Amino acid sequence: MKRLEIIYGVLTLGALGAGFALPIVVHREGPDAAIGWQDMVSPGPLSEAHAFLANDCTACHTPHVGIETSNCVSCHANNEKLLSTPDTAFHASVDSCVGCHTEHAMPPSTPTTMDHELLIAIARADADEGTLALIESLRVHASATPTPHARITSTELMLDCASCHTNEEPHRTLFGNNCASCHSTASWRIPEYRHPSPQSTSCVQCHSGPPSHYMGHFEMVSKRIAGVEHVEVTDCFKCHRTNSWNEIPGIGWYKHH
Ligand code: HEC
Ligand code: HEC
Ligand code: HEC
Ligand code: HEC
Ligand code: HEC
Ligand code: HEC
Ligand code: HEC
Repeated sequence: MKRLEIIYGVLTLGALGAGFALPIVVHREGPDAAIGWQDMVSPGPLSEAHAFLANDCTACHTPHVGIETSNCVSCHANNEKLLSTPDTAFHASVDSCVGCHTEHAMPPSTPTTMDHELLIAIARADADEGTLALIESLRVHASATPTPHARITSTELMLDCASCHTNEEPHRTLFGNNCASCHSTASWRIPEYRHPSPQSTSCVQCHSGPPSHYMGHFEMVSKRIAGVEHVEVTDCFKCHRTNSWNEIPGIGWYKHH
């Protein structure tokens, strides 16, 4: 998470070209933020989870200020699950909530969108001069690096994808840590990707078996189930097809527990 720590705030700072530490908070409320909430009509119903606050606008809106992060945090500070899960642990240091969590939406059922670029735009109020300098050099580096494909932006390239997403990584580290070289932030699907044919014998180039395949279990269980005797563990294609790892040819669905 270290790399991520130094990332907050970079864009705003870069745009200003400032060389000193400014606490920059991204306010999405715009100029209207100064209007007292009493003068406002609710733009729509609250999300289901917040429906109980329908008569308590000030729970989130501070009059003449707008949405204050501290209002949200006062109710959500101790969310253990959120702070201990790698991909959402960044919540401990963000100082703005509204970019990703919206309210008053129609329909009010999906209040969260993961805005990866916002991670960078949100400034960490307590970032010191040295940290901000590091962030800036990261930005310069990213904007000078050609994007590996059209589905990613140079802003997103500043993120260390693996620090948040290793738990979901299906490649068993065979493709390295530079997820952005192949992936976008919108979907893990890669439209132009075509899987090699089931006739391929080089499965092991891109796949590595589960840990049990490299232990006694392989000799004693996997080989017997597959009914294949003279075979190396690297000959995945002799026991597997490309549709599913658990569909063993000629045997059927097998899920070991
Ligand atoms: C659970 C927190 C919460 C409560 C309670 C809440 N709001 Fe909001 N409201 C927001 C957020 C967040 C936004 C920012 C816009 C967005 O992203 O949906 C917002 C935006 C607005 C806006 C648009 C202008 C702006 O500041 O962006 C108005 C007007 C508004 N709210 C009125 C109300 C009124 C009136 C009530 C009470 C009936 C209320 N809100 C209750 C969270 C809340
Ligand atoms: C008065 C306390 C209170 C305030 C203020 C408050 N929330 Fe909540 N929020 C809750 C409760 C209670 C829930 C439902 C139970 C839970 O998920 O913890 C909830 C749920 C949520 C959820 C989960 C939504 C879902 O559909 O499951 C998110 C995200 C969230 N709040 C974000 C915010 C943000 C952002 C703000 C500030 C704009 C805010 N909350 C202000 C009490 C509050
Ligand atoms: C860069 C985007 C981003 C920002 C900024 C952000 N969140 Fe989140 N938040 C998320 C995502 C993504 C999730 C996970 C949603 C899921 O599990 O599907 C989440 C989950 C949550 C949840 C748990 C919801 C649940 O279902 O249990 C709460 C509460 C929450 N955020 C509150 C906040 C508060 C308070 C702030 C401001 C201090 C904030 N968030 C800032 C993206 C963001
Ligand atoms: C600070 C943590 C963090 C970083 C860094 C990060 N992500 Fe995410 N990402 C999240 C969270 C949180 C979500 C929403 C919850 C989820 O689906 O895991 C998400 C969602 C996604 C999704 C959508 C998943 C789906 O099925 O909807 C993709 C794809 C993704 N990220 C790719 C990337 C890539 C590529 C990078 C690097 C350029 C990256 N992420 C960097 C936290 C992060
Ligand atoms: C060399 C290119 C490459 C790299 C690097 C790479 N991936 Fe992938 N990944 C792929 C391809 C190709 C697919 C299949 C896409 C498809 O089916 O549309 C994929 C699929 C995925 C999926 C979806 C799996 C599924 O079955 O739903 C996830 C999640 C994923 N990758 C995460 C990551 C993460 C996290 C990283 C970095 C630690 C990473 N990938 C690095 C090429 C790559
Ligand atoms: C050039 C790289 C490459 C080769 C060679 C390759 N695969 Fe894949 N395979 C991938 C990628 C990338 C994915 C998608 C990410 C993931 O799920 O691991 C994938 C996914 C799979 C899946 C998961 C399908 C699913 O949706 O659950 C199976 C099963 C599979 N491959 C079997 C094989 C077999 C068997 C061979 C050899 C005949 C093989 N692969 C050869 C790259 C490759
Ligand atoms: C001798 C035949 C054989 C070979 C060779 C083989 N497997 Fe398997 N594999 C199996 C069988 C049988 C199962 C299901 C039962 C088990 O776990 O043993 C399985 C299960 C799996 C699973 C699913 C594990 C789960 O969690 O459900 C994956 C993934 C897998 N193999 C990948 C590979 C890869 C990658 C290779 C090549 C590097 C490979 N296998 C080589 C027979 C084989």
